[in-house]
Amino acid sequence: MDLSPKVQSNSNGTTILPPKETSLESNGHEMKGSYRTNLARNENMEKLQNHYLFPEITFRVVEHLKKYPDAKIISLGIGDTTQPVPEIVASEMANYAGGLATPEGYSGYGAEQGNMNLRKKIAEKLYKNLGVKNTEVFVADGAQCDISRIQMLLGSNVSIAVQDPSFPAYIDSGVIIGQSGDLDHKSGRYKNIEYMTCDAENGFFPDFSKIRRTDVIFFCNPNNPTGHAASRKQLEQLVEFATKNGSLIVYDAAYFVYIADDSPRSIYEIPGAKKVAIEVASFSKIAGFTGVRLGWTVVPEELLYSNGSQVIKDYDRIVCTCFNGASKIAQSGGLACLSDEGYKAILSTVNYYHENAKILTDTFTSLGFNVHGGINAPYVYVHFPGKKSWDVFNHILEKTHVVTVPGSGFGPGGEEYIRVSAFGKRENILEASERFKRVYL
Ligand code: MLT
Repeated sequence: MDLSPKVQSNSNGTTILPPKETSLESNGHEMKGSYRTNLARNENMEKLQNHYLFPEITFRVVEHLKKYPDAKIISLGIGDTTQPVPEIVASEMANYAGGLATPEGYSGYGAEQGNMNLRKKIAEKLYKNLGVKNTEVFVADGAQCDISRIQMLLGSNVSIAVQDPSFPAYIDSGVIIGQSGDLDHKSGRYKNIEYMTCDAENGFFPDFSKIRRTDVIFFCNPNNPTGHAASRKQLEQLVEFATKNGSLIVYDAAYFVYIADDSPRSIYEIPGAKKVAIEVASFSKIAGFTGVRLGWTVVPEELLYSNGSQVIKDYDRIVCTCFNGASKIAQSGGLACLSDEGYKAILSTVNYYHENAKILTDTFTSLGFNVHGGINAPYVYVHFPGKKSWDVFNHILEKTHVVTVPGSGFGPGGEEYIRVSAFGKRENILEASERFKRVYL
């Protein structure tokens, strides 16, 4: 089977699959000569023209390894954590798991919304003085899964806006649920989705005077991939814009713990936000839970539909219908993360990643690049003027065996940039920096 990447680029360098009539066994699209059911393909799935970003990167790395089987690959691509979870957290999960083997310690299903102690702890510790109630916190198996559950809540009959660039799950889940038109190959944008440009010119924050009103605004802060954390004033503008338009903000705070300056860590620090915003967050990037899986979503009671009914009631219905609650083992770990000792340990790991980000920032800066992010986020966002970001990704991989992420994978607005993750082990960050210097000095 030919596994070569069957991809082409549009004028923005965005990766596009070949036309449908091509046989694409490796992409699982069309198998010639096989039995077919009478099931029609979901037309929204047909609209998805690109692979999901991270599997596409893996695919290219696999190809690269075929060419260079002995290459020592360093992955600074997907934002996967590398530092161990704190001892107190691991031992709490081990204790809980051990208890499951005993009659006293065994229990089955938990509450779909999560363990009340954990909901309480999240509300108290992470939303202190912000008026978030325990019952407004829904514990989940991760932010990305909650994004999809929120999309199910919203349905197909809403218009959405996204930062461009931003985490690709918002757009892809929006396309899947039917919120978009077709991809416009020329611009690399899906029709009916409002792309809020965030570039160096506007300080990586949208100019709302240029943004069309939509029902929903997905807003990732600190932004993935640019690393920009919005100031209080900017978030006030966001809340004001949403309130004026009667829009819902789906605020993704997955990286809040990386905010090192006095920028707000939660949208609820902004007066009026509880009336217009749902906040999604996760233990993945704050406590190394990318594999453990644990996150949460806050849906305020004050958030109302146009008919006056509460969004929280519907969200609870979605959670009860589509989710049976997060793993109790993971939730015991989540509670330990929020203990004084656990949280201190977490912050020390966050500091380690911050130091990594500084090493990467200094490296690219010393090589003459304009570098963004890194201070309030675990991502360093590097500008390669005039270059297609997939070309830069390929070039770096070819010359250094270091995996990055092309900015255009986060939307056409990420063209000319690559994102470098600071979640690596220190020795790999240092080694990657040396390799970058060898290529770009
Ligand atoms: C990223 O690298 O952007 C994210 O870590 C991927 C994810 O959270 O799924």
